[in-house]
Amino acid sequence: MALGQLRRVGSHGCRSLTAALGSQRCVSRYGTKTRDRLSVAARRAGAPPASGIATPADGEAPGHQTGASAGAPAYPHVPVMLREVLDAFQPVAMHVYLDCTLGAGGHATEMVTAHPEMRTLLGIDLDPTAHAVAEPRIRAAAADRSPELTLQLLRGNYRDLKRLLGTVSSPPPRPNGILMDLGVSSMQVDTAERGFSFMRDGPLDMRMDPTAALSAEELLNTWSEAELGRIIRDYGEEKLWRVVARRLVQAREVEPIRTTQQLVKAVGQTQLVSKGGRGGRSGGKGIHPATRTFQALRIAVNDELQKLEKALPDAIEALAPGGRLAVISFHSLEDRLVKHAFLRAAGRPTPEEESLVHGPDKFAYLDALEQRKVADLVTRKPLLPGEMETEANARARSAKLRVLQKLL
Ligand SMILES: C[S@@+](CC[C@H](N)C(=O)[O-])C[C@H]1O[C@@H](n2cnc3c(N)ncnc32)[C@H](O)[C@@H]1O
Repeated sequence: MALGQLRRVGSHGCRSLTAALGSQRCVSRYGTKTRDRLSVAARRAGAPPASGIATPADGEAPGHQTGASAGAPAYPHVPVMLREVLDAFQPVAMHVYLDCTLGAGGHATEMVTAHPEMRTLLGIDLDPTAHAVAEPRIRAAAADRSPELTLQLLRGNYRDLKRLLGTVSSPPPRPNGILMDLGVSSMQVDTAERGFSFMRDGPLDMRMDPTAALSAEELLNTWSEAELGRIIRDYGEEKLWRVVARRLVQAREVEPIRTTQQLVKAVGQTQLVSKGGRGGRSGGKGIHPATRTFQALRIAVNDELQKLEKALPDAIEALAPGGRLAVISFHSLEDRLVKHAFLRAAGRPTPEEESLVHGPDKFAYLDALEQRKVADLVTRKPLLPGEMETEANARARSAKLRVLQKLL
């Protein structure tokens, strides 16, 4: 099924997808009701079957589907919160657009279609598979453009976005829109050899950048119990972090933990029933006991939070006057960083700074806030996916979108 078709049926939710796709059931980003429909559509398009991918409601990390395109691996594709992202960028004259998390180019392709004025599209991803899948799809979407769309794909980390933009031109381009759609892609989650999924047996790799030095296997088998405990507590938000860290160390004393299923076994039955997602949005459904440990390892292996924290102010600085930054996050640790970076850029106190607003130096502090203001918040509270999307796509359930606009 073509992306355009998916997009057209998207606003009608899963029932329309069901009707459009026939009697089979949908793939991973969709809930169980519809899961296999897209799966069959995907296989028709040449995609590998996407069996057994957990969703945030089941406790698996959020992932993203990839799109079918001539000459590239074909996957069904439904970018998360697509309508909301397009709406966020709609008022902006999008001459230069930067997608910091290109993935399969799902959002990027739709942005090309929605912004005929776009002249340059820059796409960053640290996973070479993403570029291979996204490039032909974006080129196809821009095929009839006159003048041609300049497409520049930058292999690298969005942490280095300032440097990467510097490689494009001098002075560096000032994007009118920047998107960060955080987390792993389904291309990554669905590939057992990459070790992201506890639903698939594979080597414990978990590197988004396949050339990066540290794999989950190395981390698990060499870090101390205290370090493991720290990441399971801080990145996995696992209440039973001490128990889990102890079990991992006991298991690796018997033999090194090398595969996802060895890890699942080592974690054992910790939380039999605990709330998935945030604030019960996923319905308080029980999550897999290894969920939080997998999340913790993935965040640690890819140093995700530090990179995001560095990238956010750089992205805001890079924006052209009046340009917008949209960030989709999938767990509270990411969202907190986004919220705080946005508050700082908007000249507002972060929750930690609130007390200063009422303190003895409040006027000096208010001046300092005014000084640092470079943007306005477009979304005061994060936007959440609509019911239709979350019904159709369990993985969208934990998504939050925040948008900011650089001052003119
Ligand atoms: C959720 S997917 C993006 C999906 C995309 N929006 C689409 O519609 O196809 C996230 C992508 O960001 C990439 N990524 C994650 N962290 C990154 C980082 N620090 N720098 C560059 N790319 C990163 C991942 O490799 C993955 O391909």
